Amino acid sequence: MTENDFVFQPSESMPTTAKVGWKAPSNIALVKYWGKKANQIPANPSVSFTLDACATTTSLLFQKRKAPAHDFSFELYFDGQKKEDFKPKIATFLTRVEPYLPFLKGYDFTIETTNSFPHSSGIASSASGMAALALCLLSVERMARPEMTADYFNKKASFLARLGSGSACRSIEGDLIQWGHTSGIPNSSDLFGIHYPFEVHENFKNYHDTILLVHKGQKTVSSTIGHGLMHNHPFAAQRFSQAHENMASLQPIFKSGDLEGFIALVESEALTLHAMMMTGQPYFILMKPNTLEVIHKIWAFREATKMPICFTLDAGANVHVLYPEKVKEKAMEFIKDQLVVHCEAGQYICDRIGKGAKELTI
Ligand code: DP6
Repeated sequence: MTENDFVFQPSESMPTTAKVGWKAPSNIALVKYWGKKANQIPANPSVSFTLDACATTTSLLFQKRKAPAHDFSFELYFDGQKKEDFKPKIATFLTRVEPYLPFLKGYDFTIETTNSFPHSSGIASSASGMAALALCLLSVERMARPEMTADYFNKKASFLARLGSGSACRSIEGDLIQWGHTSGIPNSSDLFGIHYPFEVHENFKNYHDTILLVHKGQKTVSSTIGHGLMHNHPFAAQRFSQAHENMASLQPIFKSGDLEGFIALVESEALTLHAMMMTGQPYFILMKPNTLEVIHKIWAFREATKMPICFTLDAGANVHVLYPEKVKEKAMEFIKDQLVVHCEAGQYICDRIGKGAKELTI
């Protein structure tokens, strides 16, 4: 599929007014997206677990304007409060998706959004937030095209979400989503996420992700700036080809349920992501001392118990502790006994693999 497949020609049957709503989850990448080209095209393929508890709920009220105007018209409420400072980000998103949803300037919109996780938790809300908004906007189009298939709806929602935030394209469906063209995966695309198409062993069903809130403050360097620093990065070419190799290596790992292989690959990806930050120009560090404390404790615990508990990181200091369903009690005991002490205000979020976004009945 190409960009043109997602262009919509508005018809007479566009709805006048209605309210739609979606709850979209966050996701945690196993092979990381870090580096992008123009138009939100990823520099390398990635794959993620869709999460369940960490989610954004968004409703969209829309009303046809008397005459289409030159600018977008929207109000934005976050947790019930008007949020003027979030509006530029939404306006940029609307500008990017307008070629594919050319009816946007014909409506007044009211967007109401809430996150299930604390705003200041250091957990990125852009993936779940952009996914939920993309789903709401596409629901308006679907009212005029009720014949739209679920497959096309999900692909276009992922395509639109990507234009808001790259990783958001992996937050439409569950439970294991791949994004970015790579030769080993026939239908892989730079434009949208797809269900991971190969066999996945029982070991990887119901995987858990306990997110340790090591540092809840604002990040010093945003992901968008971080992606930009991969241009002219001395190790960019090696990193991008490594991501393709890791995608290929995951195939037999997922198939056979090889937890040891999974851990080695996922932890290496997390540290490589942060190594890219530390070796760019300008260089920066997003990990905190407690991030390293937690990592060392996970390694020591794994060595002592042989339990398949590992970590991954996103672009921040928080640690995602990953473990399979079968060790969940022991893992939680370990987390509470040894790791929670490294969390800010002792805070953590118990999450697990989820099934993707859900439409709300409004
Ligand atoms: C480290 O999707 O937040 O979480 O496309 O600029 O919005 P933008 O970036 P974003 O980057 C996420 C980077 C990551 C890795 C990943 O999720 O794959």
